[in-house]
Amino acid sequence: MNLYDRIHNNVNLSEDKRLQSALEKWLPNFLSWWHDMGPAGFQEKDVWLRTAVDVGSEGWAHFDYVKMPDYRWGIFLEPAEPDAKVGFGDNYGEPAYQEVPGEFRNALRRIIVTQGDTEPASVEQQRQLGHTCPSLYDLRNLFQVNVEEGRHLWAMVYLLHGYFGRDGRDEADALLERRSGNPDKPRILEAFNQPCDDWLNFFAFTMFTDRDGKYQLSALAESGFEPLARTCKFMLTEEAHHMFVGDTGLSRVVRRTGQLMKQSQSDDVRELDGIPLDIIQKYINFWFSYSLDLFGGEISSNSADFFAAGLKGRFKEQDQYTDHIATDGSLTMQVAAEGKMVSREVPLRNALNEILRGEYVKDCQKGLARWNKALAEEGIGDRLFLPQARFHRHVGEYAGHHFDLEGKLITKEEFEQRQSDWLPTNEDREYVRSLMHPVTEIGKIANWIAPPAAGIKGKPFEFEYVRL
Ligand SMILES: [Fe+2]
Ligand SMILES: [Fe+2]
Repeated sequence: MNLYDRIHNNVNLSEDKRLQSALEKWLPNFLSWWHDMGPAGFQEKDVWLRTAVDVGSEGWAHFDYVKMPDYRWGIFLEPAEPDAKVGFGDNYGEPAYQEVPGEFRNALRRIIVTQGDTEPASVEQQRQLGHTCPSLYDLRNLFQVNVEEGRHLWAMVYLLHGYFGRDGRDEADALLERRSGNPDKPRILEAFNQPCDDWLNFFAFTMFTDRDGKYQLSALAESGFEPLARTCKFMLTEEAHHMFVGDTGLSRVVRRTGQLMKQSQSDDVRELDGIPLDIIQKYINFWFSYSLDLFGGEISSNSADFFAAGLKGRFKEQDQYTDHIATDGSLTMQVAAEGKMVSREVPLRNALNEILRGEYVKDCQKGLARWNKALAEEGIGDRLFLPQARFHRHVGEYAGHHFDLEGKLITKEEFEQRQSDWLPTNEDREYVRSLMHPVTEIGKIANWIAPPAAGIKGKPFEFEYVRL
């Protein structure tokens, strides 16, 4: 197999024999992982995909029919800035790191491995969804997300192979060995071990969990470790489409539910094979809360260390802030202590996870506003909402305590009593699954979702996005 044919890159792979041989060894393992754990059942089909062939605005979005195993996984970094500087932290203003600084080696490897692990994990979670697609348009979007997550894995593996030597290669192998949801070798972060086995889960996942990716990647896109910054900048261009799939997907489900509510003159649209709003709300509660965990603890010495080292900044660090040292100031948080909520003053650098999480919540709220607009347009008075950020948390200050949807501290017993009103029950999940019948005729769509407002890249909705 000729590596240059398979791996598009702008990192001079052909001139770096050591890196080339490391990637050559990893490639067959990646392909066999893709074969075993990638989208089930459609590997031989032609899918109308966009492929990154260059980072320029023209080159990176090349559309054509491709069989997924032949997708050209690429390694693309945004072009280097001539004299990039460390943009924040204790080394603010010094030249950006072109190699891994010895004292930050473990921290950096941990950041890259944690990000890298999410990429194959989501492909594994979404593996069976093709069999129940609501339309060819949606099927194609699923596969687009899947191949790009595969490419994101390549991006992180390039950094591990290129900059971390032996232990980097071991970590790259381990990225192909862990499995989403496998109790013996789970993926690192819990959101990536949750089942994503119906399309409502998929849309909520791409809305909320891929959006966490946007904020993590944005914070890393300004990293003082330049190869990481340049890699993440390019990944962000692809991430936008994943969030689009989730946001518009949920919007279309909500709109359809609104239409069916009107038609049936009732809240329960089950008779008409729709997804009731209260089930949609529970899926929102579930994925939003798991995605909030991905930002890490509210009070975090890691966040302080990463910032001090110039490795991970805030969202839009350069545009939004003037003080890039952040040793002054603090954030007041509400924490649970002895059965009640109390205020705690947290030094700014230790509060950076919470600050990034706050940016994310604001962004999610915009999605909710769009979905509620769809309800209003259908003449429905009900509204969807985001639970308060303390609800249903498994990481950080609020893990181990119980809160209601408004963030009020409650007892474990109270939570258990009301849990089935707040989070998807087995029955809810079974009901949603019962609606998931594949619709694969060109231009047709499942009953529980509205068609999209437009097709992909100027093509109509009635286009053969996947040749079956
Ligand atoms: Fe990704
Ligand atoms: Fe993504």
